[in-house]
Amino acid sequence: LAVDHDVADPALATAGAGRIAWAAARMPVLRSIGQRFGEAKPFAGIRIGACLHVTPETAVLIATLAAGGAEVALCASNPLSTKDDVAASLVVDHEVATFARRGEGVAVYASHVQAVASREPHITIDDGCDLIERLHSSGPERLRSRVAAADLLGGTEDTTTGAAHLRAMAAAGVLTYPVVSLSEATTRAMADNRYGTGQSVLDGIVRATNTLLAGAKVVVAGYGNCGRGVAARARGMGASVIVTEANPLRALEAVLDGYEVMTMRAAAARGNVFVTATGNRDVITAADFAEMPDGAILANAGHFDVEIDVKALAELAGGRRRPVRPGVEEFTVGGRGLLLLCEGRLVNLAAADGNPAQVMDISFAVQALACEWLVRHRGELEPAVYGVPAEIDGQVASLKLATMGIEVDELSPGQLAYLKTFGG
Ligand SMILES: NC(=O)c1ccc[n+]([C@@H]2O[C@H](COP(=O)([O-])OP(=O)(O)OC[C@H]3O[C@@H](n4cnc5c(N)ncnc54)[C@H](O)[C@@H]3O)[C@@H](O)[C@H]2O)c1
Repeated sequence: LAVDHDVADPALATAGAGRIAWAAARMPVLRSIGQRFGEAKPFAGIRIGACLHVTPETAVLIATLAAGGAEVALCASNPLSTKDDVAASLVVDHEVATFARRGEGVAVYASHVQAVASREPHITIDDGCDLIERLHSSGPERLRSRVAAADLLGGTEDTTTGAAHLRAMAAAGVLTYPVVSLSEATTRAMADNRYGTGQSVLDGIVRATNTLLAGAKVVVAGYGNCGRGVAARARGMGASVIVTEANPLRALEAVLDGYEVMTMRAAAARGNVFVTATGNRDVITAADFAEMPDGAILANAGHFDVEIDVKALAELAGGRRRPVRPGVEEFTVGGRGLLLLCEGRLVNLAAADGNPAQVMDISFAVQALACEWLVRHRGELEPAVYGVPAEIDGQVASLKLATMGIEVDELSPGQLAYLKTFGG
């Protein structure tokens, strides 16, 4: 094979190619960006190092960047999410240097990140900072001189947690190059957190339990983007929805959106399905479990498995716990069976397929355009964390609408001048 690689089995390429084609067919925004990149070659002579979940959607992103002339190398950002057949197809069909094996141990994982870092990428793409960290740990001075020579242009970071870490690095003066934080893009918060998570969380709950949502009381904790999405989809399926919040503004919004709002303690006795989406810990605790009706379903949509106090649930149940379906464990508390899904981990990833390709299309379109922005601003940016420029958000929204055949009104020069003078 022509490119450097470490994948489980290149013979899996045919299966991987099929899955990549399935995703690509559902990612028209990235396709249209890929067509433009193919003509304009914005990444001619640019090496891109990517540390991402090795999935079919990621493969479509990588192919888009390669179409723009980039020489891309890829490693996994999580050993458990790697699809070995996709990794094989990237090597065999796309000649992308790929270093990823599903289930790889810590040492192999680190060697794969190193394999990408050692290619001295001009642009890094991260989902959790591993590549950025690796580059920084191998000599910040060298990075600084590469930045000064406009040989290292910048990076992108996908996660909110990663962006917070990078901001701390920037504040401490140890971040050596500019990074665009993608999770704050408006298109992304909308498509990913609200609509993608909103749908896939309910998908996970239904797949795990086959419960009927119509007529059920669904309690949604947290009315951020994820919570709003879950609440709206649950209502759409005929559930009556109760929202719990800690922020009065968000609570008021939920009330005005037509939901019942109350404390978790009050909601505990009334709910049939509980979904946490707060990003906080101990949202459902022992005192709440004690109130819940028989058959209550407990699911978490937040990033970490700390929102439902699973330890307290186990203590209340004593030994009275048993698996009842794949991904469902029943805890008997005061004679009532409470059903915990996927040990309190992200229910949409553990019990369903995560975000649909159409959602990843938008997220990765932002990613591809952010990389192009870094090239356009070569040598102009500070070593800091940048938000996604508003024009990229607008461009992605326009492209998505165009791929759906939807036209929107264009403001006339007179209207633009009016808004400038009198608009908010
Ligand atoms: N499952 C997924 O695929 C997926 C996707 C995106 C984000 N997330 C995660 O979901 C969580 C929420 O994301 P978001 O974008 O909606 O965040 P957000 O910050 O917009 O909203 C969280 C809301 O929860 C509220 N809250 C905090 N503590 C609370 C408590 N104890 N009780 C009730 N409400 C409380 C906050 O006031 C806030 O309004 C995060 O952990 C995020 O990482 C998961």
